[in-house]
Amino acid sequence: MSSSAVSSGVVSSGTARLLPGGPVAQQVLGEVAAEVAALRAAGVTPSLATVLVGDDDASAGYIRIKQRQAAELGFASPHVHLAASASQADLHRVIEEFNSDAGVHGVLVQHPIPGHLDYDRALQVLDPDKDVDGMHPVNMGRLALGLPGPLPCTPAGIEALLAFHGVPVAGREVVVLGRGATLGRPLAMLLAQKRPTANAAVTVVHTGVADWPRYTRRAEILVAAVGVPGIVRPEHVRAGAVVVGGGVRYEGRRLLPDVDESCAQVAGAITPRVGGVGPTTVAMLFRNAVAAARRAAGLG
Ligand SMILES: NC(=O)c1ccc[n+]([C@@H]2O[C@H](COP(=O)([O-])OP(=O)(O)OC[C@H]3O[C@@H](n4cnc5c(N)ncnc54)[C@H](OP(=O)(O)O)[C@@H]3O)[C@@H](O)[C@H]2O)c1
Repeated sequence: MSSSAVSSGVVSSGTARLLPGGPVAQQVLGEVAAEVAALRAAGVTPSLATVLVGDDDASAGYIRIKQRQAAELGFASPHVHLAASASQADLHRVIEEFNSDAGVHGVLVQHPIPGHLDYDRALQVLDPDKDVDGMHPVNMGRLALGLPGPLPCTPAGIEALLAFHGVPVAGREVVVLGRGATLGRPLAMLLAQKRPTANAAVTVVHTGVADWPRYTRRAEILVAAVGVPGIVRPEHVRAGAVVVGGGVRYEGRRLLPDVDESCAQVAGAITPRVGGVGPTTVAMLFRNAVAAARRAAGLG
């Protein structure tokens, strides 16, 4: 935990304290590297397989970053690149091969995939215990029931980010704007769990709540999980609140966050425009991957 903990009281401030994700990711990846080293010393090489379909530049870039990171951490990272014309059956075949390969502990299918393919159907083919994204229906069920299993990376990253920066969550009012399957819905489940870094009073708002600012304005912690650039403005934020920007939209290489920068004038603490939630998401992917390797080795 950082030394400059945010006070649990909600007070007005001029310019918000920044809550970067980089140091959180570094800490998590340091722990992962130590676990990888221990596994390798015990004769197990953790392996995270990646699957890319098509020629989307951004997706290829994300895969390269994850493979580089995997290599730095000591993971093996077998990779399959399917052509953009690949069929659903082709994709399922690759996933099933990785499922049945005992040397592969985690499998990541890079999202998005070409429009003629169904990502959710492919996800259901994946062995839930190799689901490093934590998005398989079985893992969503485990999350809902509070059972151990891989957690969805972005929600887990946000919980870790708040804990690292000393933002108290337990007993506080958290409002999540957005109920998407990747972020808002699992985050709400996670932060309502009975654990010291969660245990919050969580409200979820969305397009069905026309007057959502009524809720966000009373939030001690507000998480934007929408994907509509600039949707969260200072008038939606309680003075001194903690604001976490999870939602983003890409226009080409330009990243457009949900949270308007001017919110920093009202918030007590806020994630930076770049380098906030993103780095923690990647770190959680590797945390899930090493946990899968430990489980497969009978150590988890
Ligand atoms: N930073 C990261 O590492 C990271 C990782 C994963 C995802 N993300 C981002 O997180 C965001 C959410 O992802 P997701 O997959 O969960 O999204 P999603 O499934 O598209 O869900 C978006 C949610 O926002 C709500 N919404 C949309 N427009 C709204 C409006 N005008 N007013 C109020 N609510 C509105 C939707 O409401 P309805 O349900 O009523 O339609 C929906 O619940 C995306 O921007 C995604 O890119 C970021």
